[in-house]
Amino acid sequence: MADLKNTIFVNSKKVEVNNVHHDITLLDWLRNHHRMTGTKEGCAEGDCGACSVIIDENGSGSSRPINSCLIRLGQVMGRSVTTIEGVGCVKNPHPLQIAFTNEHASQCGYCTPGFIMSGISLLNSNKKITDETINDAISGNLCRCTGYSPIIKAIKSVAKNRITQNNSQSINKIKKITLGNVTYLKPSNLKELKKHLDEIKSFQFLAGGTDLNLQRPIINQKEDKIICLDSITELNTIKHFKEKIVLGGGVTIESFLEAVRLKMPELVEILQRFGSPQIRNQGTVGGNLCTSSPIGDIAPILLVLNSDLNVFGRNGSKKINIKNFFKGYRKNVLQKDEIISSVEIPFANKKNKIFSWKLSKRYDQDISTVSLAINIQTHKNIIKELHLAAGGVAAIPKMLDNLSKQMLEKKIDDAIQFAIDNLEQYIQPISDLRGSSHYRLEAIKGLFRRLQTCLIQNKNSLSIMDF
Ligand code: FES
Ligand code: FES
Repeated sequence: MADLKNTIFVNSKKVEVNNVHHDITLLDWLRNHHRMTGTKEGCAEGDCGACSVIIDENGSGSSRPINSCLIRLGQVMGRSVTTIEGVGCVKNPHPLQIAFTNEHASQCGYCTPGFIMSGISLLNSNKKITDETINDAISGNLCRCTGYSPIIKAIKSVAKNRITQNNSQSINKIKKITLGNVTYLKPSNLKELKKHLDEIKSFQFLAGGTDLNLQRPIINQKEDKIICLDSITELNTIKHFKEKIVLGGGVTIESFLEAVRLKMPELVEILQRFGSPQIRNQGTVGGNLCTSSPIGDIAPILLVLNSDLNVFGRNGSKKINIKNFFKGYRKNVLQKDEIISSVEIPFANKKNKIFSWKLSKRYDQDISTVSLAINIQTHKNIIKELHLAAGGVAAIPKMLDNLSKQMLEKKIDDAIQFAIDNLEQYIQPISDLRGSSHYRLEAIKGLFRRLQTCLIQNKNSLSIMDF
């Protein structure tokens, strides 16, 4: 039995949460407990966007789209959620819904609520409405019968007629929620987190949950406490220094993207290709590193920039260089009671160029098959400094230090040819569903060719779309 004080604001109405299993997602709760079936279930794992809703940003006054299939109800308590039912109805449709009709942007209609929510999120943001921002806004939404052109046209047609969606509910600062036999604890600072860590022996941390929430159930019944990290102030801060940027471990990938857009434009493409806006709004920097995926889209770039991770746990704080963080397939050096409290990313030497590329089957919303990050300095066509890291080629995101050393002091063309001719000595990727070992080797060789083109033509970046 849920605590009757548990509430969520849905479409500006306070809704009590009763009789729910601790594991229920926001999507299932909306559809099964409240018959709000406008929000659809397609994949139930963050890939199709049919379940998109808009959620407030933890009391910041702004709101963002997320996948309701990827968030547990316990994470949403006290927050404000807008569903498709809250933006318009048959008698009073939202202008974007009218535009979808006018532009024939919906056939079977199954994907349409998700597209409308993504479109409204873009219209309500302060971004310019361009092909690029529309494409990005709907990159997490799949349509399998209409085709995307009418959808893009519909969103564009409303661009001059922005709508303000009232999503600014007063937020309950809830610190403890019990759903079923599981308690969600929501510390609001590191001091409170420490207190929980001192008192509780068996628990599960939950940050954004875009990975963990794919598990059913999220925790076994012995661990009846979930410590949510999303309300901890220190984890949500971004600090800019002259020589580095420091991101709290709970900073979302989208906020990371916005924070580095001007100062580290080389990172924009890789971050923008990280899932979809819905995933980036939920997934966190610390969470991404802690899943310790062999690919981990942001790990290779953090490796070549020699980033430090600040770790917080029951026994206090410590600093770990990211090169010493990953231990094995989905394993890292953190103890059960430790989290990444912040990530310190130094800016590269001004003479260096930074590249970060991923190859995947689709451009948007896909996991890398391989990725390569490069931090390089050349002088008169000779490689003077080089840091290479690759994802998808070993059990962990891997620094290629031995290869980098062999490429130093060589002419660019010779060094690249050396890397291509000898790559098998430095990486031995496995074959899996995403690609064979042979494909991965050839793909990395292709990325070295792209590096060669960038260096020879003195380009700061070369998108996969242009190479
Ligand atoms: Fe497909 Fe949620 S149902 S992303
Ligand atoms: Fe049918 Fe998009 S209208 S899937």
